[in-house]
Amino acid sequence: MTSKKSKILILGFGTVGQGFFDLFTRKKELLGLQDFSISEIVDMKYGHITNPGRNLVNEIATGRTFQQKDVISTIKESDADIVCEFTWLNLKTAEPAYTHVKTALELGKHVITTNKGPPALKYKELTELARRKGVKFLMKGTVMAGTPSFNLLDLLPGAEVKSVRGIMNGTTNYILTSMEEGKNFSVALKEAQELGYAEADPTNDVDGFDTASKITIISHILGWNHEFGSLKIEGIRNVTPEQAREKTKLIAYADKTSAYVRPTKLARDDILSGVSGVMNAIEIETDTMGKIYSMGPGAGKIQTAQAALTDLVSISRG
Ligand code: HSE
Repeated sequence: MTSKKSKILILGFGTVGQGFFDLFTRKKELLGLQDFSISEIVDMKYGHITNPGRNLVNEIATGRTFQQKDVISTIKESDADIVCEFTWLNLKTAEPAYTHVKTALELGKHVITTNKGPPALKYKELTELARRKGVKFLMKGTVMAGTPSFNLLDLLPGAEVKSVRGIMNGTTNYILTSMEEGKNFSVALKEAQELGYAEADPTNDVDGFDTASKITIISHILGWNHEFGSLKIEGIRNVTPEQAREKTKLIAYADKTSAYVRPTKLARDDILSGVSGVMNAIEIETDTMGKIYSMGPGAGKIQTAQAALTDLVSISRG
């Protein structure tokens, strides 16, 4: 653990930002992070907040706002050494998150992101930049929130990954499970949106792009480097209730030579066939362990905040 005082700048104070603020405030002592503080927050709606008190979330809930400041100036003028990027997802250009991450890394700040855009579309450039600057670019929250996924490999030194397969989108798994139980597609989608699982634009979920961004990120982390733009992606719009009852799931798969996302009929004894509702699950096949599995929530306020906290602890350990 480093004893240096560290300051954290949060970009974006929506669900994930507020969840992280809450979790960090509650757990920092337990985690030995007394020397870490959230020194600044910037958000398009709430403005620029410095040295927030514990009551911040209540204050903004009752209508308090702060002076506006643009995000790039905030990053450039901030003395924080860790930037948490929690702004909105854009799988076309990764903006504005890409510029936020790049600016922070160029200034020698560690970056934690839960935003899939920058690592899915600009992984190589950003990890190379982080390496040159001697800082970390961490992204646990982009794949299965705080549920262990690619980070399980930290516990398996030397293991060679043969393949990765999983159900990595809660919205589509919720829809397919509801269709098994007799609901139609649009009712199930509406429910998933009301429960807060679906992306603002559900196209990313339903047409497989969200899942594809996650398997792309895993593929980059494993050095397979399948590009998002060249992945074969098929969503769930054409899955029938009968296929759903026969355990058709939206499966993401990658190995060294191929990667895809597509609805796949699973055998009844396939562990992934029993993954229901918004649950996510991943199967990692390695040379030393054969197949290992992890299952849990892949979205949610505190669940995604847990992932950012996991990354923060990793930074604190150097
Ligand atoms: N919309 C995503 C899902 C959120 O349903 O899994 C987490 O990436």
